[in-house]
Amino acid sequence: MDESVNKAAEERIDKYCLIAGRFPQLTSEAVLDYLRAVNYFTAPSSFKVHGAWVGGNFDHSVKVMEHLLEFTKTEGLKWDREESLYIIGLFHDLCKSDQRGFKEKSSGGLKIVSLKPSDDRHSEKSIDLIEANIIKLTKQERECILYHMGEYGGGEDYKLQMAEAMAQDPNIAFVQKADTIAARAGI
Ligand SMILES: [Fe+2]
Ligand SMILES: [Fe+2]
Repeated sequence: MDESVNKAAEERIDKYCLIAGRFPQLTSEAVLDYLRAVNYFTAPSSFKVHGAWVGGNFDHSVKVMEHLLEFTKTEGLKWDREESLYIIGLFHDLCKSDQRGFKEKSSGGLKIVSLKPSDDRHSEKSIDLIEANIIKLTKQERECILYHMGEYGGGEDYKLQMAEAMAQDPNIAFVQKADTIAARAGI
């Protein structure tokens, strides 16, 4: 693969270890191997809309986490555990890691390509992947990830369940807000 992809991955692995280094479960060799293998550090977020570059999905995830850190301070948000907001920010879009990748163009440079047909199970897929490969989620973490797409995340049943969950936990709305702000900023 293009040298720039390897370089982008190495830079982001270092950044990830700085961010999550104090949480041993998030930075075990097994977890780092898994994240490398699924291209977590290099996948783009989208073709055009936001994070459309090598490492774009990781950059988006870090941006969401940064907004959550900020909201936690300014709004006094309470989380199930110290690492909750990191897990939610960093992995809410883990499902995208194997959706899109890069191909070298014959004219030079890279273009974003689809690797798999798109999967409707966006949030649920992230939750399954996190729990199978990284860490067991708390109820709050699971709900924050499940409903991070807000009204766009599902049909009528989903919206009803989301409204009930949001009435119980104000953090869900802040996760949606963090995700929206990052995406609207193009990240
Ligand atoms: Fe998402
Ligand atoms: Fe997102």
